[in-house]
Amino acid sequence: MLDFEVIARERLERAFYDYYAGGAEDEITLAANRGAFAEVFLRPRVLVDVSRIETSTTLLGTSVSMPVLIAPTAFHRLAHPDGELATAKAAGGARTLMVASTIATYTLEEIARVATGPLWYQLYVYKDRSLARNLIQRAERAGYRALCLTVDTPCLGTRERDVRNRFTLPPGILMRNFEAAGFDVASLGDSFHSYARRQLDCSLTWDSVAWLRSETKLPILLKGIIAAEDATLAVQHGVDGVIVSNHGGRQLDGTEATLRALPRVVDAVQGRAEVLMDGGVRRGTDVLKALALGARAVLVGRPCLWGLAAAGEEGVGRVLEMFRQELTLAMALCGCPEIGAIDRSLIASD
Ligand SMILES: Cc1cc2nc3c(=O)[nH]c(=O)nc-3n(C[C@H](O)[C@H](O)[C@H](O)COP(=O)(O)O)c2cc1C
Repeated sequence: MLDFEVIARERLERAFYDYYAGGAEDEITLAANRGAFAEVFLRPRVLVDVSRIETSTTLLGTSVSMPVLIAPTAFHRLAHPDGELATAKAAGGARTLMVASTIATYTLEEIARVATGPLWYQLYVYKDRSLARNLIQRAERAGYRALCLTVDTPCLGTRERDVRNRFTLPPGILMRNFEAAGFDVASLGDSFHSYARRQLDCSLTWDSVAWLRSETKLPILLKGIIAAEDATLAVQHGVDGVIVSNHGGRQLDGTEATLRALPRVVDAVQGRAEVLMDGGVRRGTDVLKALALGARAVLVGRPCLWGLAAAGEEGVGRVLEMFRQELTLAMALCGCPEIGAIDRSLIASD
């Protein structure tokens, strides 16, 4: 898996690699997400029949072949000309779910047209609410099965690599969902940061979740929950799922690692919504640890971008297959023949 990053780094322009790889400020949280997995140890059970391992599960009623989903990440065309289309095809090939980003470089309809697996749509709510409404209605029409409202981005974290590189989108690579909404994409400027400053709605509150609930019948997940108190509020606002996430360490540097936050969120939610997590998941054993701590599934961001940069659809497919193989092996070695057998007793506590 880690080899894909090496290949991607060789292939990608420096500014694009840095945009994908980087985190906010000192990248403390970026490193902490990964480091947290090394601090959690497993307590495998033995003499269990593991001749057949079943990794399949369901998420908000949708079947997937494994609890590893593709996290929403922006601008896939920076990695490969087929961009999000390649990623969606690879997700379908692996019979798992892709969450498409609002700031994709193909439209949500184009992605849905080629997808052979289930899709969720990640939503940023913009100052211009009619734009959000446009995106929600289009996502519903195109067959997306849930909306993930990203709540950790009232404004953009400072990613110093992008500042140093003066990161901008190259000509011809556009935030196509806005174009399709009749929005003047040129007015967004070619600078991603000026787009964010102008368009992200930093006045979003829990009322906005109620607004979203009134706008759609689709299940809603809140992406970017760390505090148990917010998980409780999320449930009180009728959401169907929460994603424990710190945006891959790209927002508030110094935020706690997601694996550490996860069990407290799970305890607060008490089964009233599905809990997923992302951040630093790179191995099958990482997936197992997250599930043991109560996640129903994990999402992976950068590994898919590395696969995409290395070999397009095939590269993403290979990354997903590696996750499947590693998870299968980890489950066998832990004495868990199916997902339902994974619980907190697998985690060593001192
Ligand atoms: C390059 C990049 C772009 C991202 N774009 C988005 C986005 O558009 N919307 C969103 O909700 N999260 C976005 N994220 C956050 C991911 O959904 C996810 O939370 C994070 O990547 C998980 O961490 P990982 O990369 O360590 O797997 C982005 C992450 C990266 C690395």
